[in-house]
Amino acid sequence: MTHRIALNFEDGVTRFIEARADELVADAAYRLGFNIPMDCRDGACGTCKCHCESGDYSLGSYLDDAMTEDEAQERYVLTCQMKAKSDCVLSIPAASSVCKVKVAVHAGELAQVRQLSPSSIGFSVKVAEIGQLSYLPGQYVNVSVPGTTQARSYSFSSMPRDGMVEFLVRNIPGGLMSTYLSELAKPGDALSLTGPVGSFYLRDVTRPLLLLAGGTGLAPFLAMLQELQRKGTAEPVHMIYGVTSDADLVEVERLDAFAAAIPGFTYATVVADPNSAHGRKGYVTHHLPEAALHGGNVDIYLCGPPPMVDAVRGHLADKGVKPASFHFEKFNPSENK
Ligand SMILES: Cc1cc2nc3c(=O)[nH]c(=O)nc-3n(C[C@H](O)[C@H](O)[C@H](O)COP(=O)(O)OP(=O)(O)OC[C@H]3O[C@@H](n4cnc5c(N)ncnc54)[C@H](O)[C@@H]3O)c2cc1C
Ligand code: FES
Repeated sequence: MTHRIALNFEDGVTRFIEARADELVADAAYRLGFNIPMDCRDGACGTCKCHCESGDYSLGSYLDDAMTEDEAQERYVLTCQMKAKSDCVLSIPAASSVCKVKVAVHAGELAQVRQLSPSSIGFSVKVAEIGQLSYLPGQYVNVSVPGTTQARSYSFSSMPRDGMVEFLVRNIPGGLMSTYLSELAKPGDALSLTGPVGSFYLRDVTRPLLLLAGGTGLAPFLAMLQELQRKGTAEPVHMIYGVTSDADLVEVERLDAFAAAIPGFTYATVVADPNSAHGRKGYVTHHLPEAALHGGNVDIYLCGPPPMVDAVRGHLADKGVKPASFHFEKFNPSENK
């Protein structure tokens, strides 16, 4: 039996390894060419210590000098002693380049472009070796823009299925990728996906979740909800999906399907445009019910344009709410124009 271990490096690069149930995680990593930090290999020095974000494992034997009781309680592990009992996610406190890890490049071709509204485009990519492309729900990848030497970052808006991955993109007039998708794209165009990358991914669900999406910041949540549907959850999950204008409100039928399939999942949409006929107007912070904050016993995930991320953080600080965890992804504009 093997378990899938995600190694998340400090620079945001993620690579996956398969570790046998009877195999030390460090041995599995080295067997597959990932030189994660290591020294004594004996549970004595602590060099291989990292944080296990999710999953079950046995710690093995080690000296207190290498890892304290408190650290073990906080889910630190020594990879030279640890064996996985389920799929796990490990944060490796080193950059991928230091560990001689190359970021994976996946060849694909454009399968379909869907103009979801004047402002939003969905597209899917058929990946030649989909089995090689693993990612955590919420992560992103750098997508090459066909006909150019440039790439743009996009969050996966689905988990892999039928050899395909999907994306949800805001159509920015004159933007390089936006123009390609809205005017030039043809099914079969060659694309490359470099990654996956990012620390914005769904952790083990151990308390209520609050998901806050701004515009196409909905994308990573669609992948997360797909995973929640597959795994099931006993915790309440509430999403607030805010957009600028009515035309930006897309993929609502997918959210309805998730609401029907995931017990405890509810969502509300919000439109900022004062001229909209929508029932809830304003920003997500105007429609954040006290109950959804669970007195701070909540994991908050937030994705959208940088001003929204900052506004929500400010709002929580004003309310004096300190959530159990706060994960966010800012859709910063690309720098290589
Ligand atoms: C980690 C990460 C994940 C991302 N995931 C997504 C995603 O899932 N979906 C998505 O739609 N976008 C996402 N983005 C943003 C995306 O990478 C591109 O920046 C965006 O799609 C614009 O690309 P473009 O080539 O069309 O425009 P560009 O050619 O890059 O830009 C054209 C012009 O538009 C401006 N501009 C760029 N972005 C914006 C913006 N958001 N608002 C206003 N003006 C802008 C630029 O400054 C420039 O003047 C993500 C960004 C990051 C960093
Ligand atoms: S390498 Fe020394 S404790 Fe693991």
